[in-house]
Amino acid sequence: MDAFVARSLDEIRFWSRIMKEHSLFLKLGFRCEDTQLIQEADGFYRLFEQIEAKAHAFTTATDPQQIQTFNVEVYNAASHIWVFKRKVLGLILTCKLPGANNFPLLVDHTSREANYFRNRLAQLNNGQLEPLADAIIDENVFFLKIMADHAKFIGHLLDPSERKLVEQARDFSHDFDQLLWQAQDLSSMRPQSQTQPLLSQFLDQNRVSVASLRDFKKTARDLIAACRIKSIIHPLLADHVYREAERFLAIIDMFENSLTGKPSPNQGAWH
Ligand SMILES: [Fe+2]
Ligand SMILES: [Fe+2]
Repeated sequence: MDAFVARSLDEIRFWSRIMKEHSLFLKLGFRCEDTQLIQEADGFYRLFEQIEAKAHAFTTATDPQQIQTFNVEVYNAASHIWVFKRKVLGLILTCKLPGANNFPLLVDHTSREANYFRNRLAQLNNGQLEPLADAIIDENVFFLKIMADHAKFIGHLLDPSERKLVEQARDFSHDFDQLLWQAQDLSSMRPQSQTQPLLSQFLDQNRVSVASLRDFKKTARDLIAACRIKSIIHPLLADHVYREAERFLAIIDMFENSLTGKPSPNQGAWH
């Protein structure tokens, strides 16, 4: 099995679905009269839908050369949606879309995910993967910020009358802000901070909070799907942020296995 092919397909299958869903969420937040923006969002939805289907049609037996070409194609698509998201952010921040329903932080957040996806594809194609100790810190800094943002979105999209759930979301937001600062401190202390025990403790501590946020998101998702709570959270958005937490957990486990030298199916992906 070719690790490059497997890793590329795994990233594209996960993130193309995420990009497709971002297009839908952005579209739902535009005003009825923003027909141009709605059409652009629809275009990205179809583009990432096609990419997702193509990624599922390829297998680990596909020629690596063909995957390399596909990675470039997807890289370009991710770049284009990044430009679109930054354009929308600019329109919101200059008050050109009064009354629209996309939070600026949400638009910025989705653009950071597009940029992450694009960078992963570039790294895979260039064969220039970060050393393990750097990847551990950088991936955690990226994902902790993503998790902190999710907690804030959930807190603000729940109905204000759901006082207990709003409070829980606020606690998660605080918890992840603290973890993010810790991660940034560890990053600042590089390379001296990159010892096996410190990195291992860092992963353990993050894992505990991510698992607990993941469970909270799962509960919220199920409650929303069953129409048991009041919110303006789209059921697909609830599932979307749950899947991103699962992804982060899988990455943490993969790093832990690499640190301790345990064999892992994704080993070789980052170092
Ligand atoms: Fe997302
Ligand atoms: Fe996200």
